[in-house]
Amino acid sequence: MSETLTIALSKGRIFKETVPLLAQAGITPLDDPETSRKLILDTNLEHVKLVIIRATDVPTYVQYGAADIGVAGKDVLMEHGGEGLYEPLDLNIACCRLMVAGPVNAVPVKGRLRVATKYVNSARHYYARQGKQVEVIKLYGSMELAPLVGLADCIVDVVDTGNTLKANNLEPQEHIADISSRLVVNKASMKMKHAMVKDFIAQMERAVANKQ
Ligand code: ATP
Ligand code: PRP
Repeated sequence: MSETLTIALSKGRIFKETVPLLAQAGITPLDDPETSRKLILDTNLEHVKLVIIRATDVPTYVQYGAADIGVAGKDVLMEHGGEGLYEPLDLNIACCRLMVAGPVNAVPVKGRLRVATKYVNSARHYYARQGKQVEVIKLYGSMELAPLVGLADCIVDVVDTGNTLKANNLEPQEHIADISSRLVVNKASMKMKHAMVKDFIAQMERAVANKQ
């Protein structure tokens, strides 16, 4: 087969949780992104390559066809908007919740709420749906710090165990969405590499079902 299939993954949680699913689909990476500096990883299958990129960049690479397929958190996909992408499969990995969180026993805020988050679009949509006017402050990480130093009244971030919130005297306040990672597919690849892409999705679907 001369056509290649390029799969975009981020290192860390998504790579670790996707590798067992890929293994069931007969795909084994030949390098470990935690130890290798390579950004394009070969696999045991000559026509399958993995590209290792930032989690938030996965939808962009797939949208523009630089990767045929990717694995991205629903939080990242909601923020991106999903343009140019199919989202055929919930991989049921990296599960967490997108939440509003704030200081424990916070008193209700008078005036406009200040919300710190890296999920600015999701936060804006969430509050707009409620007809609330808020000030959204864009951060790139360590959102939990913002309410502690008076930068914001609350944050919008993903929560799993709640340990990070607890360690910073914060608590979950409102649930925005349940999050898991999804397979995303470039729309042109779905047409042009139909057989290969369909076969990959079917194998991943079986791998997910076997894990349940
Ligand atoms: P970037 O490196 O671009 O800033 P990131 O640090 O959010 O991205 P990861 O921490 O690897 O990247 O998270 C990847 C995805 O895993 C997130 O988009 C989210 O869907 C999910 N996730 C994030 N934190 C948790 C968590 N504590 N438990 C379970 N899943 C999580
Ligand atoms: C994520 C998120 C929270 C934490 C929530 O960060 O930004 O800080 O997980 O998980 P918890 O509820 O189980 O404590 P992560 O650990 O991925 O750190 P990173 O984004 O800096 O990689």
